[in-house]
Amino acid sequence: MPKRVTPPEITLGERPSNVTLTRWLHQQLRQSILDGRLKSGTRLPASRDFANHYKLSRGTVVAVFEELQAEGYLSSTVGAGTWVNELPENPQRARKSSPPVRILPPPLTGLTFPHPARPFRCHEPAVTDFPMDIWARLASRRLRAASAAMLAERDPRGHLPLREALADYLGVSRGVNCAADQIVIVSGVQQALDLLARVLLKPGDRVWMEDPGYFGAVIAFRNARANIIPVPVDERGISVTIGRQRACRAKGAYITPAHQFPLGVLMPLERRLEILAWARETGAFLIEDDYDSEYRFEGRPAPVLQSLDKNESVLLIGSFNKLLFPALRLGYIVVPSRLVDTVLAFRFGIDQNSVGLEQAVLSDFITEGHMGRHIRRMRELYAGRLTALKEESRRYLGGLIEIPHIPAGLSTVGFLRNGMSSREAEIAAAGRGIETMALDRFTLERKDVQGLLLGFAAFDESRIRRGIASLAMALEQRRAGAPAA
Ligand SMILES: Cc1ncc(COP(=O)(O)O)c(C=O)c1O
Repeated sequence: MPKRVTPPEITLGERPSNVTLTRWLHQQLRQSILDGRLKSGTRLPASRDFANHYKLSRGTVVAVFEELQAEGYLSSTVGAGTWVNELPENPQRARKSSPPVRILPPPLTGLTFPHPARPFRCHEPAVTDFPMDIWARLASRRLRAASAAMLAERDPRGHLPLREALADYLGVSRGVNCAADQIVIVSGVQQALDLLARVLLKPGDRVWMEDPGYFGAVIAFRNARANIIPVPVDERGISVTIGRQRACRAKGAYITPAHQFPLGVLMPLERRLEILAWARETGAFLIEDDYDSEYRFEGRPAPVLQSLDKNESVLLIGSFNKLLFPALRLGYIVVPSRLVDTVLAFRFGIDQNSVGLEQAVLSDFITEGHMGRHIRRMRELYAGRLTALKEESRRYLGGLIEIPHIPAGLSTVGFLRNGMSSREAEIAAAGRGIETMALDRFTLERKDVQGLLLGFAAFDESRIRRGIASLAMALEQRRAGAPAA
C-alpha cells in the first residue's frame, strides 16, 4: 500500500458530554475516513504522539486504533506504523468525489475533459510519445547539482541560460530577431496574454480581435476591461481593411499569422506588411501568438511577423505546453526593448518569476538537441495522423464535413456541409462519444462559419478511423432527416 504522509494535525470535532472519550475518538476517526478526509494510505501519527497532542491517554488511543483495525478501516505493521485502508466505494464517499470537470471559462461551458482524452480532443499533444526518460535524467542531474545560485535565482525575466538557448532557437527556427534580455519566461500563452493586456490596455481601450479567434485572448482582454473589436478572418488572416474601418485608432491587435486559430490559414506576406503598416502609422501594438507553428508538415514554417517589424510594434508570444507537454506550463514573450522594463515591473507584481527547476531542465533539453529531435519526430507522427484523418473523412464524411488543406498544427477545422449548426454537431458528436469543439465557441459576431475543431495529434490511426466512423453516424442524423439533437 503506498503511504501518504502523516497529516500534521487531524481535525476532531467537539466531544458531547454524554459520550465517552473512546466512543468519541472512534466516531471522529471513522467519519474522517468515510468522508475521505483521511485518505487511503495516510499514515496516522504514532499512538504516543497522538495521545500527547490531543491530551488523551495512550491506552484510549491504542484501543481505538485496534478497534478501527478490527473493523477494517486501519492496518498496522511493526516498523511501518498505522495507516488508513483502501475502502470499497460507498455512497457517502462517492457523492463527495468530484466529477471530471474543471472550472472552465464561459467559452468552454458544457465541455468536460475526462482522462484519457477521446478523439478528437483539441489542443492535446501526443503526451505518451514525450521522451520522459530523457527529461527525468536531465531533471535529476539538475537536482543533484543544484547550486546555491540556482536555488536563490529570482530574475523576473527567467533563467538566463534558458533565455539564451531560446533566443538562439527562435532565431534559427522562426527568424526571430531578439537578444536574451528581451525574453520574459512565463507560464504559457495565457499568462503572456493576461500580462500584456494589463500592461498595454486601459479599461475601455479598443483592441482588434480575430473573429473567429482564440478564447484565451478574449478572456484576457475582457479581464482588462478592454473594448474588444471583432475583426473577421478571411483566407489570408485578419482583415486589416475591415479593422481600419471599424477602429482605425485601436490600441492594438491580437493575431495568429502562422496558423490562424481556429481556421488554420497562413497570413501571406502582403497581409503581414499591411498590418505592420497600420501598426506603424497608428502606434498600435501587435500581439503575435506563435502557439504551434513548429508543426507545419509541408514546406518550411514561415518566419514570424516579428522578423519584419522595424518599429518595435510586435510582441511575440509562444508556448512549450503543446510542444512538450501541457502540465509543463512554460512559455515566453519576446518584448520590444522599449517595453522590457515596464513588462518586468508589472510581472514582478504578479508572481515575480517562473519556477526555476523546469526552466533549467528545459534549457538543457534545448541545448543538448533533444528539443529538435522531439519536434522532428512529432512532426512526422502528426503529419501521418492528419493524413489518416483526411483520408478517412474523404471516405466517410463526404457531404457532411469538409476539411480544408492546411498541413499544420495539432487540430484542424472541419466545415459542416450537412446543414447542422456548429453546436448541434458538437452535441450530436458527444452523443456518440466524440469530443469536438463547435466553431461558435470561438466566434464573436460571425454567423457564417459552421464547423467543428478536430484534434488529431494525440490519437493513433486506428482511433482516428473509429472516431471518424462514429462522427459520421452522428452527422448522418441530419441527412437522414432526424431532428437536430
Ligand atoms: C491560439 C492558441 N494560443 C495559445 C495556446 C496555448 O496556450 P498555453 O501556453 O497557455 O497553454 C493555444 C492552445 O491551447 C492556442 O490555441
